[in-house]
Amino acid sequence: MVRPFTFMLVAVSLDGKISPRRSPGQPNPVGPGLISDEIMALHNRQRASVDGIMVGLNCILLDDSRLSLRAGEGKSPTRVVLDGLAEMPVTARVLNEDAPTVVVVSHDAPIDRVKRLEDRGAGIIVSGRGRFVDLPPALERLKEDHGIERLMVEGGGTVHRSMIAAGLYDELRFILCPFVIGGSRSITPAGRSAFWPRGEIPRYRLVENKTLGYYIYLVYKPEMERP
Ligand SMILES: NC(=O)c1ccc[n+]([C@@H]2O[C@H](COP(=O)([O-])OP(=O)(O)OC[C@H]3O[C@@H](n4cnc5c(N)ncnc54)[C@H](OP(=O)(O)O)[C@@H]3O)[C@@H](O)[C@H]2O)c1
Repeated sequence: MVRPFTFMLVAVSLDGKISPRRSPGQPNPVGPGLISDEIMALHNRQRASVDGIMVGLNCILLDDSRLSLRAGEGKSPTRVVLDGLAEMPVTARVLNEDAPTVVVVSHDAPIDRVKRLEDRGAGIIVSGRGRFVDLPPALERLKEDHGIERLMVEGGGTVHRSMIAAGLYDELRFILCPFVIGGSRSITPAGRSAFWPRGEIPRYRLVENKTLGYYIYLVYKPEMERP
């Protein structure tokens, strides 16, 4: 299958969470104010190293992320949002002028909602049915039609889970952060279900680890052999 080189980047707390469970409008306590400047710079460099950044709809609804480079360093990559039923508000900041935006919808997305996103300048990819889009063909279109050779997936946990289950990550990159989020219903890096295709727990091998102040940056690649 033709697809971009694809990796996930996730900031995870000492207790293995990526965010408290919140409703739209509830502020995120795990924001830039909590993260060190060194890690914010690492995050910015990772964004600058790719042609595309992908997230799920909840990241937009909860955080209204722009997904663009901070401090105007370099060219912002194409933003990609997975939004099966085209529910993203047209006021979302990810539709601003910073960079192109592509929304991946399914064949069940209402045409009028898709049209409203197109009128705001978004490119549209149609893949699969229902709320969850079919990822392999969508990634193929991102490479073939939008020139995305390197794709970083920033979240959230539901999207990472789908990507891992479909075997679409070349690397998993973690930033282990020196704080505890807590909460049994908080969001974890791979949410929804712990039952994997063919009943096999996905395994990885460590290829890089670096200490950055109180943080640890870790890179893993898929591992077929038993560690
Ligand atoms: N710490 C970090 O590094 C980090 C980074 C990013 C985000 N976050 C946090 O993660 C949270 C959001 O994560 P989340 O798990 O709630 O949601 P999410 O992964 O951002 O979005 C999931 C939604 O995306 C849509 N989607 C469409 N196709 C999909 C597919 N094939 N697979 C999966 N999703 C698909 C669905 O929307 P519908 O079902 O609504 O149609 C699905 O519910 C936020 O709290 C955010 O702050 C943390």
